[in-house]
Amino acid sequence: MKVMILGNPDYTEAVIRKGHSITLDPFDAHYTIADAINTQAIPKDNEAIIILSGTVSDWAAKQSRPDAKFVNTIEEAVGLIKTSEEPEEIFEPKDKLLLLSYANKGGVGKTTTAISLAEVLSENVKTLLCDFDYAGPNIGAFYSVETNNYFEGPVKPIKVKNNLYVLPAPKENIPRGSIKGEQITEIIDSMNFQVIVGDTPPAPWDLPYLHSLFERSDLVYSVVDQSLFSVSETKRFGITLVAMGVPPEKMRIIINRYNSRHASPRKILDAFCSGFKKESRTLPKVVAHIPEAWEEQVKAGYRATILNKEVWEDVCSEVYAKLGLIQKTEPKGFFSKFANPMQKLKPLFTRSVAH
Ligand SMILES: Nc1ncnc2c1ncn2[C@@H]1O[C@H](COP(=O)(O)OP(=O)(O)OP(=O)(O)O)[C@@H](O)[C@H]1O
Ligand SMILES: [Mg+2]
Repeated sequence: MKVMILGNPDYTEAVIRKGHSITLDPFDAHYTIADAINTQAIPKDNEAIIILSGTVSDWAAKQSRPDAKFVNTIEEAVGLIKTSEEPEEIFEPKDKLLLLSYANKGGVGKTTTAISLAEVLSENVKTLLCDFDYAGPNIGAFYSVETNNYFEGPVKPIKVKNNLYVLPAPKENIPRGSIKGEQITEIIDSMNFQVIVGDTPPAPWDLPYLHSLFERSDLVYSVVDQSLFSVSETKRFGITLVAMGVPPEKMRIIINRYNSRHASPRKILDAFCSGFKKESRTLPKVVAHIPEAWEEQVKAGYRATILNKEVWEDVCSEVYAKLGLIQKTEPKGFFSKFANPMQKLKPLFTRSVAH
């Protein structure tokens, strides 16, 4: 394996002794072994092994690279290097899911939803979080990562923690008219992840290159800001999705900025579904209601952490069931008081149910 050293030059000898080679090129390295004080210099998508120093640098290193492995000696570090690359698990199309955030307007919580889903899912499955909001991207800034114009070059998802990769919007401005829907779906299809979570811009109906993405999706999480709820607008949410090829059974509703003084979740659900044809067999569900918490949200964004984790874990139970990793289950969601407790998750996380 090729190893980059960011620390004591004497480490080199221990690495070579075990049959690995040293590289100075971060793009060539499989692993980086670094002293805790050098953590910031470790390339984002390298496997990081950090040698602890017993000082405050250790705390900072753990904060900035939670995905790293932490050891006390160079011998321990070298012991963690695999002797050959293990073959990557290949996911078949039937074992992959595309989830999208969605809303007809800005600032309602789409990005918060996409990040929360991806963070929680990556605790159990290999997840890619993509930013399709080319005009107002947020994902790159959230994780402090950048990428090239992947419409004209290689597509390189960036590993931000174990099992979680992100594909931010390219740092160059991409002219609207130059993007084709097939390019985006081709990229999605070429990615080897169990779950791809896509963050989308407001009102994707106005951006025809996103229609095929919506049509291709397995679940769409529509975010309704309860504090701004209006019947006519919410009715349009659902029917716009239908017009983009998303049937009602693939729609899920997230009520954001929930407050019991505003319109009830039942009223929101009724408005959302009111435009659907009567023959729609399965209607969307309200799967989460997220309380308003300005200060906590700001702090969470600053620290790149997520809030309401247990709510998102509940939402994700359905995704695991779709992947065949647990027995079929429904998110408890808002109308859960009458849910059968026997239907609780069976946290097997082994592939047990075929599609
Ligand atoms: N429940 C909440 N309580 C308080 N603040 C929230 C809540 N949900 C989201 N926010 C904040 O509102 C702002 C907008 O949220 P977010 O970026 O997720 O929305 P968006 O729909 O993706 O916006 P845009 O259309 O601009 O992409 C963010 O600063 C976020 O932290
Ligand atoms: Mg957003």
